[in-house]
Order: sequence, then structure tokens, then C-alpha cells
Amino acid sequence: MNINLQYTKAFVSEQELAENTQKAIAANKLLHAGTGKGNDFLGWIELPNEITDDFLTDLQSKANKLRSKIDVMITVGIGGSYLGAKAVIDSLSDSFAAYNGSKPAMLYAGHNIGEDYMAELVNFLKDKSYAVTVISKSGTTTEPAIAFRILKADLEAKYGKEEARTRIVAVTDQSRGALKTLADQEGYQTYVIPDNVGGRYSVLTPVGLYPIAVAGFDIKALVKGAQDMAKITSENNSENPSVVYAAIRNALYNKDFNIEILANYHPKLHFMAEWWKQLYGESEGKDGKGIFTAAVDFSTDLHSMGQYIQDGRRNLFETVISVAQQKYDMRVPATADDLDKLNYLAGRHIDDINKNAELGTVLAHIEGGVPNIKIEIEKVDEYNIGQLIYFFEKGCGISGYVLDVNPFDQPGVEAYKRNMFALLGKPGTEGERDKLLGK
Ligand code: PA5
Repeated sequence: MNINLQYTKAFVSEQELAENTQKAIAANKLLHAGTGKGNDFLGWIELPNEITDDFLTDLQSKANKLRSKIDVMITVGIGGSYLGAKAVIDSLSDSFAAYNGSKPAMLYAGHNIGEDYMAELVNFLKDKSYAVTVISKSGTTTEPAIAFRILKADLEAKYGKEEARTRIVAVTDQSRGALKTLADQEGYQTYVIPDNVGGRYSVLTPVGLYPIAVAGFDIKALVKGAQDMAKITSENNSENPSVVYAAIRNALYNKDFNIEILANYHPKLHFMAEWWKQLYGESEGKDGKGIFTAAVDFSTDLHSMGQYIQDGRRNLFETVISVAQQKYDMRVPATADDLDKLNYLAGRHIDDINKNAELGTVLAHIEGGVPNIKIEIEKVDEYNIGQLIYFFEKGCGISGYVLDVNPFDQPGVEAYKRNMFALLGKPGTEGERDKLLGK
């Protein structure tokens, strides 16, 4: 993995970058010393090195056993309890896995409160053999809890309580929360989310690893990528890519570039960007500060958001994920009549066209006043995705400390919950509802 700042040079001076690099190195030291803000949630730093081979072998073999008997696996969770798994699974899966009969199909629930979504899901599952992984660190989150109620009842009605039990895996806190109590009562296979790892930093715990293993991907290679990146990003110097990323983001933020757009040119990375958006948005957006995170899929979104990025309000910067090698070989065919005048491209790789779209866009956007950070990965496989995940996690911890926020809490998420519970008439919220309706 390589981070290239060549397209930010017109926007940030060497001195500004150097100052922020020093701050980022200090932040990296603070993370490793464990004495900064939110230091009870730093378990993710050493996590890849603490995962044992035996643990991964056992997880993979349990996942394989389940895999062989199901058509569909439903991962129930929201935010950090589903985005990482979905990001990795989508990145590694065939683009048409949902339609080509691949088993198990990986589906999700509990990440919305969609009545039609749940009704259609249960309807779809009628003639399928399926299993559920329910993931909630707190064990009390409303969205997944409602979805799980529905799926648990459906599984029990379909298979009976005993068989249903073998098809449910719970990933939750070691000792607290309603999901833990239920899992103990029902005797579900349970995996633990460590206390010191927050939701959005948990993809390398069973929160992500178990669904990824059920989907059939190599979790050892994923963890190996993260381990290697953990080593690289433990260095306190200006070569550390997470230091570089945190430094340039903060240098740009200080110059009022307060919206970061993650742009990918590889359609399978769409959900990596969703995961990244949550990681950085939820970690940094607090105390009236923080870069707003957005994402685009190029070249698709060049035909929708391209106009704004080129020409709208100048407070944006882009971080481009560029994938060096593709998995397949496909080229532009020649035609006899050349009606579309594209024969000059005949025989060239589709990815060659894509790379020129990428370079052309980067050059146009910097010309239009949009700094570009380029992150290059070799290919989309378990190892490289593992590296990318850890690189972004470390960059986020460092960047949050440079910004002087606690990157490991999310107090703002509670506000909507309080209102929703009061509006729904949750016992104990009496009086609140009328006040809210009065507004
Ligand atoms: O990053 C976070 O902490 C959040 O996005 C949580 O993952 C999300 O709110 C789900 O929480 P829980 O796993 O407790 O159900």
C-alpha cells in the first residue's frame, strides 16, 4: 500500500505538512502510550497481533460447517456491527454473487427499520435454508433487536427450537447486555467483542471475521494484512502511511477543506467507503469539529456528483483509492464499422481506460481546486483489504488526536435514541413525549 501526496502540493506547503506530521507522530505515540482521550477503547491497536492462529482455524472450521448446510446467511447488526463485514464481503465477492446461485448468499438485517424490508426478507427466506449471526456489542440496540426477534421466531417456527439454536450465532459483550443474557439462556454459540474495542474498530474481531469466514474468505490472510500494517504504522516517523494520511487531512482541514470525499474506481469497494465514512465521521465529528465524510464511486458518480466536485463550493478534498491490478483480463473489442469511433481503443484493457479516467479526473479536480490524496493498493484480495482496514483505523485514531477529540466515543448518537424512545412511549420516558410533540 502506498500513499501519494503529489496532488496536494499546490494546496499545502511543505512547512504546513511538516508541522502536522510532527503532531501526527506525537498522536501516534500517545495512542501507543495509552494515555490519551478514550484510552479504554484502544484494544484495536494490538488486536491483529493478539489473534491466534488456533482461534482463526477454529472460527473458520465452525463457519465452514455452517456454510455447507445453508443457502443464506443473515448478519444482523447496525453501524460498526455490520459495515465492516459487509465492506470486506462485498469487496471480495463476485459482483453477481447475489444472482448467480453462490452459496451462502450473504444478506443483512437490523441495519434499518424497514417494515417492507423485513417482510420481503422473511418472504424470501421461506424456501431457503438459512442461519443468523446476530451482532451487538451493547446487546440493546433497537434496530438489530427488532430484526432478531422476527428472524428468531421465523427460524424456530421453521426448524423447531433445537435446530434453530444451531443456526444462530451471537457476537456480543463478554458479560453484559440483553443479547448476552438471551444467548446464555438459549445456548447459542457466542463470540466476544472485547470490552476495549469500539463498534467501528471491531471488524477484525468476530464481528467481522465470523461473517467473512461464513462467506468463504480467507480470514488468516485478512488478519496477516492487518498485522503487517500494524507493524508499519507503529513507527514514529514520516514514512508511516497512517501518520502521513492524518497529517495531510489535518493540514487541509486547517485550510477550511472540511469535506473529504473517498473516491474509488473499483465498484466492489463501494461498502469499504461506507465503512470508512462511519469510521471517520463518527470518530471525528464532535465538539463542533471534524471533517464531514462523503463517498463516490467513479466513474459512475462522475456523471452525477462530478459537476459539484469540479465546480461547486471549494471546501472539498478527495482521497482516491486506486487498485493497481485487476483479477481478470478483458479488453475493448474492435467493430467493423467503428460507428462510435472507439476502435482506437480496441485491444486495450478496460482497466487501462479506467486508469486514464482516474488520472484525467484527478488532474481536472486539482485544476478545479480540489486537493487529491492517492492511496494505491496492489489488488483487491484478503491481504490488501486487511492492510487497508488497519491503515484507516490507525489513521483515524491519529487524526482524531491531532484534532483533539476523543475518536472512540459517539455521544451524539444518543440524541435521536432518546427522542425515539420517548416518542414510542418507552416506560420511564413519561412527560418527554408531550414535550417533543409540542415542538
Ligand atoms: O461504532 C459504533 O460504536 C456504533 O456504530 C455501533 O457499532 C452501533 O451503534 C451498533 O452498536 P451495538 O453493537 O452496541 O448494537
